[in-house]
Amino acid sequence: MPESPMSAVRRRLYHVGRHPIAWARYLYERELRGRDVLFRVNPRFADWAPMYRVARPALERLTGRPRPELDGYFRELAPLHAELVQSVGALPSAGAMMQAPLLYVLLRAVRPRLMVETGVSSGFSARLALEAMEANGVGRLWSIGIAKIAVGTLRPELAETVRDRPVGWLVPPRLRPRWELRVGPSEELLADVLHREARPLDLFVHDSLHLYERMHAEYELAWPCLVPGGYLLSHAIPRSAAWPELLRDHGLSGDEELDHDLGAVRVPFPAAAGGG
Ligand SMILES: C[S@@+](CC[C@H](N)C(=O)[O-])C[C@H]1O[C@@H](n2cnc3c(N)ncnc32)[C@H](O)[C@@H]1O
Repeated sequence: MPESPMSAVRRRLYHVGRHPIAWARYLYERELRGRDVLFRVNPRFADWAPMYRVARPALERLTGRPRPELDGYFRELAPLHAELVQSVGALPSAGAMMQAPLLYVLLRAVRPRLMVETGVSSGFSARLALEAMEANGVGRLWSIGIAKIAVGTLRPELAETVRDRPVGWLVPPRLRPRWELRVGPSEELLADVLHREARPLDLFVHDSLHLYERMHAEYELAWPCLVPGGYLLSHAIPRSAAWPELLRDHGLSGDEELDHDLGAVRVPFPAAAGGG
């Protein structure tokens, strides 16, 4: 269900209550100075637990899986989190989808065979999705992104630390056999990937350009390709009218907002034929 103003306030208070100083620092840098920040400065990266606690009821509704099972998937992330804090904590997050650990839990629960995402920076979301697929022993991911790390609002000395890295540098060689990275704009590549390669599609994630035209075009391309029971996720749903339009135009209900601004909705199963 869409987040009500009251639950948005409760969610923010919960996050801030857990890490007040970290949130003050992050909001100062990000909202007041308009700067991208290091991974470790983002409180959602430094501690994944508050985000999971906030999103858990929505994950239960979306997956139909019991809470202890989802908690088990979340607990699996502890070693990976520790490793990432060490290896990338001091690097700029460059637009990374901070809810990627929630993607991991969702994918562990629903075990998609084929997933497509648009928008690749460091490849944080791809890394978490591929880790889930590896743990599942099944799954392939197609990622489409332009060959440019998002460093627009960084101080020059920080931008230098990631500028020359290839997109998706966070995905290690051991996970690459499950990964197809297509470098280029989704305007040019998405239709081909959806229609020729990634069929039947179980899960689609929009995380490219968060403007109405791109969001709307990607949703409308991906939606008919998804299997019944498949999932469409989108980052930045409050940024444009595209998400409410998708829900309205396809008569959808049961959509969820996972923590902050990651929308998720499931393709309905066809009504049973025959009956009464
Ligand atoms: C929010 S970031 C994606 C972060 C990514 N999911 C991650 O966790 O690393 C958005 C990315 O989309 C890319 N992008 C922007 N316009 C695009 C387009 N039209 N097609 C594909 N990618 C695009 C940008 O280069 C930027 O790196």
